[in-house]
Amino acid sequence: MSAALPIRSMLFIPGDSEKKLGKVAECGADAVIFDLEDAVSPENKPLARKLVPEYMALKPRGQRPMQYWVRVNPFDTGMTLEDLAAAVPAAPDGIMQPKTDGPDDVRRLSYYLDALEAAHGIAPGSIKILPVATETAVAPFRLGDFATAGLERLAGLTWGAEDLAAAIGASTNRDATGDWAFTYRMARSLCLLAAHASGVQALDTLYVDFRDDAGLRESCRAARAEGFTGRIAIHPAQVAGINASFMPSADEIAHAQRVLDAFAASPGAGTVGLDGKMIDIPHQKQALRVLAQAKAFGAI
Ligand code: COA
Ligand code: MG
Repeated sequence: MSAALPIRSMLFIPGDSEKKLGKVAECGADAVIFDLEDAVSPENKPLARKLVPEYMALKPRGQRPMQYWVRVNPFDTGMTLEDLAAAVPAAPDGIMQPKTDGPDDVRRLSYYLDALEAAHGIAPGSIKILPVATETAVAPFRLGDFATAGLERLAGLTWGAEDLAAAIGASTNRDATGDWAFTYRMARSLCLLAAHASGVQALDTLYVDFRDDAGLRESCRAARAEGFTGRIAIHPAQVAGINASFMPSADEIAHAQRVLDAFAASPGAGTVGLDGKMIDIPHQKQALRVLAQAKAFGAI
């Protein structure tokens, strides 16, 4: 379980683009991810490693408008340490770790962060980790292991369909209806379950069509109804729709309060009646979750 702050929206910012870095302060996301990985070409990696820490250092932790995360290159590229050495001195709130095979990769990154935090006077354990936990062929098999891995820095789990398709030689990750094909739906569900089994945030993958606001909102509402707590964004225009869709509605908040009131009125009861329906402990848990989310983002 991690003490990481809750996130509805996480907006990717290509780390080599001064223009896009200039949009961060106004973007309204709960977190931004400065990308050093696939949004940056090999020849621009050094530029991104310079621009991102310079930008982050403009505002120290505690004075930032949102959480600052950095996506580093994965271990098999040989670039991870260089990325971390560049980013950590600017005290990111977290590292997004792509193409992880499982908890062992996260543990290895965590050890690197132990050393780098000590070297730069950053509070030990304060840099969290968000693995993209389905991007290799073996990764989906190891999702369940996160629950017992004891990774203190783990803030959430997210998943990706594009790299998984590339990893398994698939020419598409969609089925005939345009939905995710079975392999990707399976990976997504396992990621959702693993996040909750680990007591961390479940962040859905990006919605590619960044001009389709109605489709994004519908997709986010469905994801939230399934148990996802937030989502990745690739374009500033997606942030408002994601933030709104991952907030409980006024009706949900009112209902959750009534569920808790019903339990409070019958101390010690495991089941109570509300509006002619039985409600029990799972309903109480869900009501607490709804109210916690509403509180975290100032809706109550
Ligand atoms: N962060 C910050 N600013 C962004 C942005 C982002 N992710 N995406 C777009 N913008 C800015 C653009 O620079 C543009 O600014 P301007 O009005 O001053 O010219 C404005 O928002 C409108 O952008 P638009 O023209 O609609 O999109 P685009 O064609 O410039 O960019 C993408 C489209 C997909 C290339 C861009 O959104 C992007 O780079 N997204 C992130 C991709 C990424 O990081 N992927 C890695 C994870 S898969
Ligand atoms: Mg990728």
